Amino acid sequence: MTSFKFNFSGTADDTQQLEDKAEIKWFDSEQVIPNEDQLKNFENVITHAKMFTYGDIEIGHVLLDKSQVDENLVDEHCDLVTGKYEGGLKIWECTYDLIEYLTENEESKDWEKKNILDLGCGAGILGIYAFLNGSLVTFQDYNKEVIEKITIPNVLLNIEDEDRENDISKCTFYCGDWASFDKKLSENVQYDIILTSETIYNVQNYDKLINLIINRLSKSGVAYVAAKTYYFGVGGGTRQFEADVNKTGVLKSEVVWKSAGGIQREILKINHVKS
Ligand SMILES: C[S@@+](CC[C@H](N)C(=O)[O-])C[C@H]1O[C@@H](n2cnc3c(N)ncnc32)[C@H](O)[C@@H]1O
Repeated sequence: MTSFKFNFSGTADDTQQLEDKAEIKWFDSEQVIPNEDQLKNFENVITHAKMFTYGDIEIGHVLLDKSQVDENLVDEHCDLVTGKYEGGLKIWECTYDLIEYLTENEESKDWEKKNILDLGCGAGILGIYAFLNGSLVTFQDYNKEVIEKITIPNVLLNIEDEDRENDISKCTFYCGDWASFDKKLSENVQYDIILTSETIYNVQNYDKLINLIINRLSKSGVAYVAAKTYYFGVGGGTRQFEADVNKTGVLKSEVVWKSAGGIQREILKINHVKS
């Protein structure tokens, strides 16, 4: 087995073993339906709620720490365990970049009745932002536990009590690997906008992710990818991802935003090449 340290953010205590692709059995995708208990018993969620704020935007959310989820799922020393737990328990910094970009750019302000995919959603902040602006949203995260214990409660938390059962039907939730998720969706499902933050650290997943965008982004749609320019230790990052996207010949990518300081971060805007 070849393995190497995966230093996700460039800090010494944030490492993991990245296993060989061949040895990872990626989880199959399944739809996750909000249950009666989640819809009715909200007291516990509300008492633990925090606020994600950016300017005028306020998104209620809960986050769990690793001690509150299945101990077999997470490793207390790592933010990611490849193929097992992919980091959805916390909000990663590029989510803030993308929210800021979306609120400040006119071209990305038309959300009403749009079909949106929050890909690798974790807490679901990007999808909830779209939902609060009138979109129909599909939330996808690798881990079922993240969808059940964080994403769904977070969406519910942002709906008024009396509208909860009705409005949650505007959202759909899936867990599992991107390749399997793509197969699981009905053939005709297409998204106007795909939002994804901090999902391109592992180059082994680029083919799946790019194929998903090719297959599921509508011909006039746009995908926004917020990520670090370089993820230390694995070689993934926006440059590598952009090169792979452009290599397809059917998608094109451009950098629409760059961070000014700190660890370099970017936002890529991806479209179908017009034929
Ligand atoms: C670092 S987390 C980012 C979470 C969230 N987007 C944020 O910015 O806070 C990476 C996310 O990518 C998703 N992910 C990673 N690899 C995946 C795979 N092979 N299939 C499906 N989802 C995957 C996981 O759902 C995970 O939540």
